[in-house]
Amino acid sequence: NGTADLVIVANRLPVDRVTEADGTPGWRKSPGGLVTALEPVMRSNDGAWIGWPGSTDEEMEPFVDEGLSLIPMTLSPAEIEEHYEGFSNGTLWPLYHDVVAKPAFHREWWDSYVTVNERFAAKAAQVAAKGATVWVQDYQMQLVPAMLRELRPDLRIGFFLHIPFPPAELFQQLPWRRQILEGLLGADIVGFQLAGGAANFVRLVRQRVGHKTHRDTIYLPDGRTVRAAAFPISIDFTEFEELARSESVSQRAKQIREALGDPETVLLGIDRLDYTKGITPRIRAYSELVRDGHFDVEDTVFIQVATPSRERVDQYRALRDDIDRLVGRINGDLGKIGRPAISYMHSSYPRHEMAALYRAADMMVVTPYRDGMNLVAKEYVACRYENDGALVLSEFAGAAEELRQAWQVNPYDINGMKATILDAARAEPKEVTRRMRAMRKQVRENDVSQWAIRFLDALASVPHDHGKTV
Ligand code: G6P
Repeated sequence: NGTADLVIVANRLPVDRVTEADGTPGWRKSPGGLVTALEPVMRSNDGAWIGWPGSTDEEMEPFVDEGLSLIPMTLSPAEIEEHYEGFSNGTLWPLYHDVVAKPAFHREWWDSYVTVNERFAAKAAQVAAKGATVWVQDYQMQLVPAMLRELRPDLRIGFFLHIPFPPAELFQQLPWRRQILEGLLGADIVGFQLAGGAANFVRLVRQRVGHKTHRDTIYLPDGRTVRAAAFPISIDFTEFEELARSESVSQRAKQIREALGDPETVLLGIDRLDYTKGITPRIRAYSELVRDGHFDVEDTVFIQVATPSRERVDQYRALRDDIDRLVGRINGDLGKIGRPAISYMHSSYPRHEMAALYRAADMMVVTPYRDGMNLVAKEYVACRYENDGALVLSEFAGAAEELRQAWQVNPYDINGMKATILDAARAEPKEVTRRMRAMRKQVRENDVSQWAIRFLDALASVPHDHGKTV
């Protein structure tokens, strides 16, 4: 047995191996909501984190980074193609997001998914101390809980899914549906963003695996029970608020507005460049508002930041081309010299710059077709410490269940989105403040440390008598 009392198993490490401009190797914070949420939790817990350091062929030894042991797991080029780009992001990602794009089912991808999950499970079995807690993360690792239990019945095993868990009608398409359900059932607690996802899972386990269930509890034939429940994830509220209040972020926010020619109104979208995020309908809705004369490029601008993501997957490549074309056409049609309708950046920015963008924006527009949670919406709220700023939010983002006071929209309904964006833009400052204040309270009181505590407490309270004799 190893020595770590708390082990995270995730597809990615919290840092990504990169080559700096001068050719030397360096590290950068990894993209996405999973790392954003878990990093602060783990930095204060002296745990170990097993994950992929991103595309690199270096074999790397484990190392300690600010109190956290990082255990790099290199993926071979074939595994990147089949496990990561293939089964994880070409099959599961679209399937779990309402089949917004068509999932592909390939048997070689599945085989690679199994192999990679086995390797991560074996590593966790090696580093976890006797009776330790292992917390497995997200859709790339759904087989790890059962594989790990097989190797180490003494462990407490939790699993958390950061993305939506689909309704049975969609999940059923998966040729390996039973294996995935059984993989997850290796955990003591299977956590989801929303109660709806947990209910979908319990129903599937009953129908497909045939286990008895009662509310959130699943009864396995060997006497073990598994709980499926919702643990909506969040952000480090204080960190973002303090960053937003800092002199350097305030200065930078001012600079951003100056660079845009001091417009009256700045609207903002920030997303990983992903087809689930509804970037296209949002840009279309905004451009029609400009075309119809509701916004004037002389005094209003829409900033869209799209962070590069999964660029070797076809659907992501095609989306990038679509957005390039759409933004180009809109700016060509509607822009004036020094006044684009849309200021578009395909780039990733450090947290400091993100906070400055949130501070600079009068309105944040978050319109995914489907999203597990959407932490960008919560980050915007955390940064608006003066209780101003309007949030337009898709009802299909997990965050919509908590951020009730956002201006909610259906991203499939362009006219509805246009009307709601206009409502939000024209709302009385008093109304904007009333809504923002309520949302800030919600996020402040339910920040990421609460999320982690709730999950780990639930895991710690699972009766755990099996494996004692091992
Ligand atoms: C989402 C997923 C994460 C993933 C992140 C970035 O937040 O839930 O598991 O790590 O996107 O995507 P990537 O494919 O770059 O890891």
